[in-house]
Amino acid sequence: MTNWNYLVFKFIFRDLRPSRIALWILLLNELSKINGKKVLDAASASFYTRPFYKHVKYVGIDNDKERVAEGVKHYKDKDGETFGVIADLKNYNFMDNCFDICVSTNTLYKFNIKDRIEIINKLVGYISEGGHFLVQIPIDDSYLNIISILKKRFSKIKIRFHKNRLSKFIETKFVEKEGWATENAFNRSIIFMMIKWMMVLYELVTSRSKKTKCNAFIICHKKKA
Ligand SMILES: C[S@@+](CC[C@H](N)C(=O)[O-])C[C@H]1O[C@@H](n2cnc3c(N)ncnc32)[C@H](O)[C@@H]1O
Repeated sequence: MTNWNYLVFKFIFRDLRPSRIALWILLLNELSKINGKKVLDAASASFYTRPFYKHVKYVGIDNDKERVAEGVKHYKDKDGETFGVIADLKNYNFMDNCFDICVSTNTLYKFNIKDRIEIINKLVGYISEGGHFLVQIPIDDSYLNIISILKKRFSKIKIRFHKNRLSKFIETKFVEKEGWATENAFNRSIIFMMIKWMMVLYELVTSRSKKTKCNAFIICHKKKA
């Protein structure tokens, strides 16, 4: 299911943020263990994680018209199994039980707690019985509530944590400019690369511990009937 070559070149080496690289590795590891024919990528941007899902029907939904158009254009003649929906996650409704896997990363932190929970309930509704939900959320006041909602809807739940305080500091200080990753001479240097990889390793080794982490990656298996 997973295209590891793509991961290595596009994400592992090029991404500047250790916490994101750790998330991609955790996500790919989970995807390699599950099967499904239809995937929903909730807030897909321009489908850059599309190569994570091989031989499946992929639907990306995002409210950014240009990004969705870019993704659709890129995959237009490639596989015939990639589709884009330009819509707001809060307002759009797919049919219930129509995806085997739903994934949402780096997005739900943008919403207030009420909207975030509403969106999670919607996304869970779209997943078919026995299906999987891989969702990343911030650890804030919504966290325990979301876990208890997901525990009721899925037979098996596993949680991994990422973005520790040190990664956050490094990313804010040396990579991000107004929230976006920005290349500069330092973050492209060998020294930064070494720090980045040490942090990725540290993130992965400590991913079972919630201590000092900002985000939770929740892996839900086997949606209940
Ligand atoms: C940081 S990107 C995340 C992209 C990708 N999922 C990832 O993990 O990197 C956040 C995306 O959420 C989209 N987004 C924000 N609010 C949205 C909404 N209400 N409905 C649909 N998409 C939304 C933005 O357009 C953007 O493409």
